Amino acid sequence: MTLTAAHGKVKLASGREIDALTFNGQAPGPQIRVKKGELLEVTLLNTDVKEGVTLHWHGVDVPNAEDGVPGVTQEAVMPGHKHVYRFVPDRTGTFWYHTHRASSRTVERGLFGSLIVEDGQRGMERTVFTHLWPGADDPVAAFDTADQPVRQAVEAGEPVLLRLINSSEEPQRLHVGGTPYTVTAIDGNPVQGATPLPRGTDLLLAAGGRFDVAFTMPPGVVSLSVDVNEIPNTAALAFSPDGTAPVAPAVSGPLFDPLTYGTPTPVPAATYDRAFDVTLDDGFGFALGSFTYVSSSINGRLYPAVPMLMVTEGDRVKMRIVNRSLIDHPMHLHGHRVRVLSRNGVPATGSAWWTDTLNIAPGEIYEIAFTADNPGVWMDHCHNFRHGSQGMIMHLGYTGVGTPYTEDGIPE
Ligand code: C2O
Ligand code: CU
Repeated sequence: MTLTAAHGKVKLASGREIDALTFNGQAPGPQIRVKKGELLEVTLLNTDVKEGVTLHWHGVDVPNAEDGVPGVTQEAVMPGHKHVYRFVPDRTGTFWYHTHRASSRTVERGLFGSLIVEDGQRGMERTVFTHLWPGADDPVAAFDTADQPVRQAVEAGEPVLLRLINSSEEPQRLHVGGTPYTVTAIDGNPVQGATPLPRGTDLLLAAGGRFDVAFTMPPGVVSLSVDVNEIPNTAALAFSPDGTAPVAPAVSGPLFDPLTYGTPTPVPAATYDRAFDVTLDDGFGFALGSFTYVSSSINGRLYPAVPMLMVTEGDRVKMRIVNRSLIDHPMHLHGHRVRVLSRNGVPATGSAWWTDTLNIAPGEIYEIAFTADNPGVWMDHCHNFRHGSQGMIMHLGYTGVGTPYTEDGIPE
């Protein structure tokens, strides 16, 4: 297929118009659906996005050359130019794509879409982005383009799968009201032995992360709503058998915790070939040539001064990530999925918690592990793109692998 990036207008449910950047005239861009093991070929064209555009396949462990990072795996596609991506997805699940150039402005304005590697789901299925669109003062929260309640008919008794994707820069607290539900997958990784959560359980979805949520449509209304900065927002979806029921008021409940959810899958006793310590911090430092307050350093440094983490193909790698700052940092390693071993010293006891975007809240300490099985030069960065543009970026390198591209700025 072809994705063409261009300026365009997007109308939200309230009638508000966004001065957007679109793929094929829409934002979010068109959904790409593919079967596991099938070759996907996408031609990216850029009509008039002056920042340049790339496509990063978030969560899909593509070969490095297809990863869409300007200055590392390709040059950004400038207006009038194109680039062809080819890869074979090898895991089913909910993924997404987005541009990786000047992302803090261009993703917010609409250069993103979903990539579904089909998993044989039956019944009603809907992909929902929780997004913050640029607004005059504050960003405008929406489910896709629904910045105010939108109703949808779903027959009672029908199995429902909501693929929730957070395309904003902040973790989003989501309320699913009116039914118990099951989290069947996290970041495209199925949860083993997932069981219904107590009614009223809330979800905290990391920026860049995905939860697949399943339930059987009840006779009443099921509402999806969101808090923004801990304040209930007007964005909401209401599902009901005849499609006319209004959104039920959200009640805040306990938070879903992947650390203890599902059938225990013991961590294989492993020895690690490498161990990395990563401290996320804030304070004063040099950012882009000037001495200033930065919210986003790694081991006291800012990109490009953060040393590359070096591995050799086949290494078992352990990483400890500490957030000493006062804000959330959703850390995303390209090209690999990581398994959570522990949080704040408490070992993970549920189904293996595989993730590609892990929100590290202030004060938290995570231990994660992964296998170095995808040679290349890979970004490992905060998915709050504003923090990324301030320098919260490092790379994972493999011995003997380089890049022919030169970074002409921040590769995000
Ligand atoms: Cu979804 Cu490097 O990003
Ligand atoms: Cu951050």
